[in-house]
Amino acid sequence: MCSHGHHPNIITFSILLDGLCKEGDLDKALTIFKVMENSQLKPNCVVYNILIDGLCKVGRLNDAKKLFYKLFEKGLQPNVYTYSTIIIGLCKKGLLDEAHQVFREMEGGCLPNDCCYNVIIQGFLRHKDVPRASQLINEMVDKGFSVDATTIELIINLSLNDDLILRKLQI
Ligand SMILES: *[C@@H]1O[C@H](CO)[C@@H](O)[C@H](O)[C@H]1NC(C)=O
Repeated sequence: MCSHGHHPNIITFSILLDGLCKEGDLDKALTIFKVMENSQLKPNCVVYNILIDGLCKVGRLNDAKKLFYKLFEKGLQPNVYTYSTIIIGLCKKGLLDEAHQVFREMEGGCLPNDCCYNVIIQGFLRHKDVPRASQLINEMVDKGFSVDATTIELIINLSLNDDLILRKLQI
């Protein structure tokens, strides 16, 4: 592109990074991210989201967390998608306390939507943390949100081994 006099913009970079992340080539994606940081073309929220998602999907949670906290340092505001992504990554690694903390921090600027509620509830259900799942289900329902199909499936799956699950969930 450059040799033909075209200069890549933030959208071309995002497409490139998305492709690299989908191929699992996170090292190359991070190298390009660094190049962007040192150029005029500063990474925006979309770029961060692509990389955080890619890093979580390959299990590189520490790198994903570093980028997540860097967003704040750079004065960028993560959106609900960024939060859901990092919460899914944390839950997958069993870091439920940290996931819960990140979820609670959302109340200071980017309110959780129904998707955020569902992903964190699913994390708690997958790790059989019924009290916290119960609390969040009731909280989301109070806010007018609904549990999604995956959350219901997880509750059904739990109920196959535990007749009292619905009573424990208090729903
Ligand atoms: C529920 O259990 C079935 C059978 O073990 C499994 O295939 C399915 O993936 C489980 N659902 C979820 C959402 O984990």
